[in-house]
Amino acid sequence: MNFPSDPIDLYDDDVILNPWPHYARLRDLGPVVWMEALGNYAFTQYDAVRNGLRDHETYISSLGAAADEYGCTHQRGNTVASDQPRHTELRGAILPPLLRDNVETLRPHIQSVADDIAAACVRKGSFEAITDLAQPLPLTVVRDLIGLPDFGRENMLKWASAAFDMQGIQNARGQAARPVIAQMKDFIAKEVRPETLKLGSWSHRITEMAARGEIDPEIVPFAIRDYINPSLDTTISAIGHFIFHAGSNPDTWQKLRDDPSLALNAAHEAIRIGTPIRSFSRHTSENVELEGHQIPKGARVMMLYASANRDESVFSQADQFDIGRRNARRHLAFGAGIHMCAGMHLALLEIECLILSMTQQMAEIKIDKPTVAMNNSICAFSKLNVRILI
Ligand code: HEM
Repeated sequence: MNFPSDPIDLYDDDVILNPWPHYARLRDLGPVVWMEALGNYAFTQYDAVRNGLRDHETYISSLGAAADEYGCTHQRGNTVASDQPRHTELRGAILPPLLRDNVETLRPHIQSVADDIAAACVRKGSFEAITDLAQPLPLTVVRDLIGLPDFGRENMLKWASAAFDMQGIQNARGQAARPVIAQMKDFIAKEVRPETLKLGSWSHRITEMAARGEIDPEIVPFAIRDYINPSLDTTISAIGHFIFHAGSNPDTWQKLRDDPSLALNAAHEAIRIGTPIRSFSRHTSENVELEGHQIPKGARVMMLYASANRDESVFSQADQFDIGRRNARRHLAFGAGIHMCAGMHLALLEIECLILSMTQQMAEIKIDKPTVAMNNSICAFSKLNVRILI
């Protein structure tokens, strides 16, 4: 007997529009499911995903973390697609400015930018949450911290989105991403030079470290891409999920107005229920026995973060948005183990600041039905109209 199997293509448009019933079915089938359409195994339940992510010697990243061979080949060498010792070197280079204490020094600045963004929406009376509210904070603050020359808002969004399409499979979206990514690499190769980087910025720091011989110059473009690619769509997605769920539930909005100390838990709960990155993968470094069956060496195993975060055995009433949920912070949306999101403290700070700005400045909001963004890896809304009730 083999693992249970399922024919669904997790990258099909209909699944992307509403993946939640499919994840529930996969969890019911078992912790490990063979995905026939993708030729991958999938870890579906919370414990299987968390244990797999923590066991980085059995479930390795250096063969790629995408869902097919092309995507994996394309990613290799990035922090997310590396094992020790390269992973330790790359992560060690990029991490210092992203550590919690260093990020916390940015709070007054980020709060002030978030206040301005929310105030501009209040002046309009009604606004489109993704363009007017979710995108501006990461696009301005984070781009400035990274210290890149101005590539233009549209380019930054287009590139980040294409990178996440390619990290799924090479369906029409994955293929359409190829020329966009080639354009991004070309821009970065031509425009990112020490003299074009903002002094004191994260990217400038990386080039200085290479100049002083503290890191191998070969890792510089990988480190800079680590700051660019994962830092936009993920955070934008999470802000969209917060607005959708809080806007669907006026009690939540009032609770946050009455008790702003709930904002950080609300940020985690939005990240749990929305899970901005649906899944990444690993490859097995040896034959693995699980549930009485064997996953062969070299197999690709999808870590379904989004499914794990709706596992009822860990999160009761998992489909409900509950900012008072006591274990909201146990979610796996940032991963776990040595590859756990390097930018999580920054993302959480941005989202928390925006929640505070919005709930303090807007008495209540009404939302329209959102439009789901069609992206292979990112779970997000592309359009969400909001009306402010004063
Ligand atoms: C809500 C926002 C975010 C979410 C949900 C998120 C999610 C994730 C996930 C799931 C991983 C783990 C991948 C794996 O296990 O293979 C990851 C890794 C990573 N993230 Fe994030 N991310 C977010 C924001 C950010 C930001 C703002 C940055 C940068 C400023 C960032 C930089 C990175 C990097 C560099 C890695 C690779 C870490 C490693 O492999 O050691 N992320 N992220």
